Amino acid sequence: MVNIPWTTVETSTNNYYNSIADGYNELHGQEQRRKAKLVLSKLEQSDIDGFLDVGGGTGYATEIFPGKRVLLEPSEKLRAKAKGAAIEGVAERLPFPDKSFSLVVCLTAIHHFKDPKKALSEMKRVCQRQVVVSLLKKAQNYRKLDSVIRKILKNCEILDDLHDMIYIWNR
Ligand SMILES: C[S@@+](CC[C@H](N)C(=O)[O-])C[C@H]1O[C@@H](n2cnc3c(N)ncnc32)[C@H](O)[C@@H]1O
Repeated sequence: MVNIPWTTVETSTNNYYNSIADGYNELHGQEQRRKAKLVLSKLEQSDIDGFLDVGGGTGYATEIFPGKRVLLEPSEKLRAKAKGAAIEGVAERLPFPDKSFSLVVCLTAIHHFKDPKKALSEMKRVCQRQVVVSLLKKAQNYRKLDSVIRKILKNCEILDDLHDMIYIWNR
């Protein structure tokens, strides 16, 4: 059993997502799936032979992606809704060796992270080719996070979507 650093997840955030798990897909599923479709339209699908979904929630959004998915999610109730491999963990400490996944995706989750810089460098570390991050425009810490992401995912392509900014970084 991996020793999860729970101090990096706010208990209130975890409690919140556990409490809405039953209705999560109904509440947010279509919107998150819409973002995932947009992301997918920008990627070379044949290059995706396995991907990591960080803070993947129920995993509904990225079910449409090709390749084997590993979903990493701290909320046990959201994880229980996911199809396929769903592991307990946090973005700040990814329990995988370097370059484990051709693609790493993180949709609308980074505004919750206690240490976004660490999380972004972890995502870069475990990816072989691409990291895709989306940031909720109405997040309280939006401006700060936007600049942190642009700095760490240097030269990324940026899509200005309806509710999120989307950053696509190529190694
Ligand atoms: C708005 S939901 C998005 C879920 C999913 N990406 C989607 O598109 O439906 C935010 C997610 O971030 C997760 N989260 C919060 N803190 C986290 C952390 N430190 N590491 C990884 N995930 C975290 C939450 O548990 C929740 O599932």
